[in-house]
Amino acid sequence: MAAKGEARGTVVVAGATGYLGRHLVVALRERGWRVRALVRDPARLGFAAEAADEVFTGHATRPETLAGLCDGAEAAVSALGLRAMGGRLTVFDVDRDANLNVLARAREAGVRRFGFVSVLHGAELRRRVPQAEAREQVVDALRDGGPAWTVFRPTGFFNDMAEFFEMARKGRVWLVGDGARRLNPIHGADLAAFIADALGDPAAEGRELPAGGPDTLSQREIGALAFEVLGRPARFGRLPPGLLRGAGALAAPFSPNLSNFLRFMAAMGEVDAVAPATGTHRLRAFFEALREGGAEDLLARH
Ligand SMILES: NC(=O)c1ccc[n+]([C@@H]2O[C@H](COP(=O)([O-])OP(=O)(O)OC[C@H]3O[C@@H](n4cnc5c(N)ncnc54)[C@H](OP(=O)(O)O)[C@@H]3O)[C@@H](O)[C@H]2O)c1
Repeated sequence: MAAKGEARGTVVVAGATGYLGRHLVVALRERGWRVRALVRDPARLGFAAEAADEVFTGHATRPETLAGLCDGAEAAVSALGLRAMGGRLTVFDVDRDANLNVLARAREAGVRRFGFVSVLHGAELRRRVPQAEAREQVVDALRDGGPAWTVFRPTGFFNDMAEFFEMARKGRVWLVGDGARRLNPIHGADLAAFIADALGDPAAEGRELPAGGPDTLSQREIGALAFEVLGRPARFGRLPPGLLRGAGALAAPFSPNLSNFLRFMAAMGEVDAVAPATGTHRLRAFFEALREGGAEDLLARH
């Protein structure tokens, strides 16, 4: 692939096989970086496989498999985190510890720049939502010991919005609370472009950068858009945040991941997630692509 930007050094991408990570591999390569993708399974790079100059196979939760990960690299960026609910590992094993393992390798190798993807309103959410707490502990570590960092604080990604579309396809969209909380979700390609630009910009060092997409909608409006694109009447159900939190507390001893998810959902019904808009991808076009089956390959689903 021809590089748009000037030639740069090597950048390590952790979480390269995920929804955002795949786009990051492409966006960084387009800006002239030599991309080293950290993967558990190279086959999961999907459309990003061609843009990865090097593939490093390792398990970020197992530090012994990361020896040499960052050798010779100038920068590293991580979009690695747990979204699946099954399995034994929790957000503290993955979102926190696996990212700290990558950070340790970056420090060891003298990497100069580190980009980390956390969440919008992380400082406020961390006491209520374990996913946010786990990621904010990585932010704490970056603030404490470098290298020169940039923390990205996105709103919801389009792959999460695909869940609204799937609910609409099944006939009913479940809203948290009254569905009035607003957000401006962002497409992976738009966020990746934003991150890749910032990673090459010295002015972004030591900064926390919020980012969202061009459409600001309430959760109910997102559901309504999904029904409209499907040409079906809108049907909604309501999940009170208090009920989700209570269910989360009950689930904690049996399934920490389910409990964390329910607490995350409860918070989503109580806070707006609107960040400065960037990018060009519109939610309607994304839903239309999902309807036509044209966006499935971009979602990096397991
Ligand atoms: N999705 C959102 O709406 C959203 C919003 C704000 C912030 N974020 C943050 O951005 C991050 C990336 O989101 P995404 O939607 O791109 O997630 P994703 O598609 O689920 O990708 C997650 C990445 O982490 C890797 N990973 C997961 N569990 C792992 C484990 N146990 N060991 C090693 N690697 C593991 C995955 O590798 P495999 O491919 O091998 O599974 C994949 O590369 C999230 O973790 C989240 O905290 C997400």
